[in-house]
Amino acid sequence: MTRRVLVLNGPNLNLLGTREVTVYGTISLDEIIEELTEHAATLDVALTHVQANGEGAMVDALHDARSWADGVVCNAGALTHYGISLRDAIAAIGIATVETHLSNVAAREEFRHHSVIAAVCVGVVSGFGPASYRLALDGLVSHLDGLART
Ligand code: DQA
Repeated sequence: MTRRVLVLNGPNLNLLGTREVTVYGTISLDEIIEELTEHAATLDVALTHVQANGEGAMVDALHDARSWADGVVCNAGALTHYGISLRDAIAAIGIATVETHLSNVAAREEFRHHSVIAAVCVGVVSGFGPASYRLALDGLVSHLDGLART
């Protein structure tokens, strides 16, 4: 059965490709989603992508996902570090979510070291550039496979 996954990107990720290229690289978000969609097809996963610059819109997308998604790959951008309503939404919907980052947030400024969403996610992938999304999806599918076997 085809699984359905929400890929949720937060503030400023629409600027990937031109934004702080020494940190985030030159690949655009559209290119990342295109590559991820191809990879997802090999796993029998259908993706829906939402990018929002506001926390409320991200919360709305998570609420909407309750009715259709099997899992979420979420790069919350800076909201990772202070977005309590985003954290509460992830906890509230009870859908397996993987925290995802292009950069290695642990190796960057101190304020990026703390995630308010990590504790309500099934895992974290950080530091592999655009490949972080693919690795996060692989991790999510492996987690869902484990649930399906129990
Ligand atoms: C990011 C890391 C965050 O700290 C930052 O605010 C971002 C992008 C990443 O993908 O590396 O916007 O989530």
